Amino acid sequence: MMAPDITEPRIVVLASGNGTNLQTLIDATASQDFPGKIVAVGCNRPQAFALERASQAGIETFTVDHTEHDSRESFDTALRAEIDRYAPDLLVLAGFMRILTTEFVRRYHGIMINIHPSLLPRYTGLGTHQRALDAGDKVHGVSIHFVTEDLDGGPVIAQAEVMISPEESAASLAEKVRVKEHLLYPIVVRWYCEGRLKMEADRVHFDGAPLPKPLYLAEEE
Ligand code: GAR
Repeated sequence: MMAPDITEPRIVVLASGNGTNLQTLIDATASQDFPGKIVAVGCNRPQAFALERASQAGIETFTVDHTEHDSRESFDTALRAEIDRYAPDLLVLAGFMRILTTEFVRRYHGIMINIHPSLLPRYTGLGTHQRALDAGDKVHGVSIHFVTEDLDGGPVIAQAEVMISPEESAASLAEKVRVKEHLLYPIVVRWYCEGRLKMEADRVHFDGAPLPKPLYLAEEE
């Protein structure tokens, strides 16, 4: 029997809903040459389909139902206890729709990344696709960033853009953005697991040097 690779980074993914980003990460990490392993998936909603996706892939799951906690602190404390059982090297937020306490964010400083459906710093928070349409933007996209205490404001690692067409709806735009999300998140998680990506002094470092601007995937013509 082969000895387990103890250096393989341990990934915990948190999700709240459908979990399509989780699925792309499950698929990517299933490949033999992926340098990391999803050891658990956590959800704040017991009915989230993300849990089903994880179970189907044989990945351990846990649920901390936010409706059973009367404060953010209590919820975050319970969530931390679950996460820490898995001693993650990387905590991946994949559509995890909870605002986290400062204490929680500090606990996972430098090892927690998030995907956000806009070209940050534009459109932090919710309703990003409609807000891009309302502003008459021609370009929209997705960002992956380290999580800091600043909501959707941590240093951006990578972005991918999509063009907004004249007949665009929020739903069609969300779909276009999701295609880029699925492309970009496994790439960034791989970089992290390969040790190429770090946050130092609240700046992204890539291959040992500070990143002057986010890595950028432009829309093909
Ligand atoms: C994704 O579009 C992700 O960018 C967004 O939630 C969706 C989850 O989809 N995240 C946020 O809005 C975080 N602020 P999924 O469950 O199918 O992966």
